[in-house]
Amino acid sequence: MEKLVLDIESISRLATRQTSVKEFATVLEQLDVYSGKIREKLKEPNLPQLHRDSLREIQKCISQIIKENQQTSKQEDNLPQSQEKEEQRERAIGQTIIKAGEVRFQDIAGLDVVKSLLHEAVILPVQYPHLFTGKVKPWKSILLYGPPGTGKSTIAHAVSTEANCTFYSLSSSDLLSSWFGESEKLIKELFSQARSNPRAIIFIDEIDSICRKRSSKEEETTRRIKNELLKQMDGFSRTSTSASPSDEPKKHLFVLCATNCPWELDTAFLRRFSKRIYIPLPDANSRKQLFRIHLKDVEMSIDDSDYDQLVDKTDGYSGSDISNCISEAVMEPIRELRDCSTWKWNDSKMSLSPTIKSDASAISLRLENIPREKVQPRKLNTKDLFHSISLNKKTVSQEETVRFQQFTEDFGQNG
Ligand SMILES: Nc1ncnc2c1ncn2[C@@H]1O[C@H](COP(=O)(O)OP(=O)(O)OP(=O)(O)O)[C@@H](O)[C@H]1O
Ligand SMILES: [Mg+2]
Repeated sequence: MEKLVLDIESISRLATRQTSVKEFATVLEQLDVYSGKIREKLKEPNLPQLHRDSLREIQKCISQIIKENQQTSKQEDNLPQSQEKEEQRERAIGQTIIKAGEVRFQDIAGLDVVKSLLHEAVILPVQYPHLFTGKVKPWKSILLYGPPGTGKSTIAHAVSTEANCTFYSLSSSDLLSSWFGESEKLIKELFSQARSNPRAIIFIDEIDSICRKRSSKEEETTRRIKNELLKQMDGFSRTSTSASPSDEPKKHLFVLCATNCPWELDTAFLRRFSKRIYIPLPDANSRKQLFRIHLKDVEMSIDDSDYDQLVDKTDGYSGSDISNCISEAVMEPIRELRDCSTWKWNDSKMSLSPTIKSDASAISLRLENIPREKVQPRKLNTKDLFHSISLNKKTVSQEETVRFQQFTEDFGQNG
């Protein structure tokens, strides 16, 4: 990520309210930019989960600071005037549009039923709107729910690649943090802009942060954002279904949301989805595919029968747990280079790799004495993966899985 140096001193003065009005606005602006960069980084589908979690933590802290200071900021009347705000909102909407990415359905392990549902519900109507007329109505909104790290955000991004239409992607934490109390207007404009496209998809990730069940403690800002979203979703579905005059091009607009705690959602909101789709932990077959997908470009000495053992050892692991195990395991051959004292030439004699002392062709050398371009780590083996699996435990508990199954039984998958 491009580095952005935060002025820690002024931030701490901001936290203790000992800052001048001008400085105050500058620091908030700086935090906003930083938060935008984090948002961009989080869109990367292959970001390791640990890295993703830390970035989310940082973003949470930033939103806290911004939220606490919003009120003061408004009172100081030091924020840009309405035209500038409008431009700011436009820029923010622009940032939510993501270009067709690199993740495709084929890069997602398992979830075949989900892929075909999404194909039928989102991709077909977007690509062939003329087929969806009269009684054949496309779905208008889908909620993806399931344990953390099961691929909900990844599959949404794959939809954007496959559908190849304007795709607006935002997370609820962005809505709450980065937009300086402008969130409702932003939602309104986002939906209005999406409606002006012939084909568009709006994806809202981590929807639970704004659409929680109503409670007396609910903050006023969250309540207003939620109401605006509900209103827009109603209007949105009317736009999608309204029979357009024959000379008007058919439009297709679609809302996709994701959450890992669906029971926290307001039932009024839950009801609005045409379909709720459960994204479960991967079964044995999907785990095998996960290993194959994530080890695709890795130099390794692993054969087919080893995959069955890997699958057995990762029962209950999520896709992201498996991806983390692999990220950790692939470091093992690199780590070994530092302490290795016996090396051997590879077949073509172009590079040197570590070997055991008893190897007849072993040469005694230290890493620092080998030209950098000649250093070649050994191939990844199953032992590396087993070791990494033993260190990285599964992150979704049995109770959590049961809770998801119960939710699916109670609320069904149809809207
Ligand atoms: N089915 C899958 N196929 C391929 N990779 C997967 C799959 N599920 C998870 N992953 C890997 O795990 C990482 C995290 O997945 P993702 O962020 O999509 O999970 P999520 O369900 O959105 O999690 P959260 O609920 O925490 O937001 C991805 O970057 C991807 O590498
Ligand atoms: Mg996600």
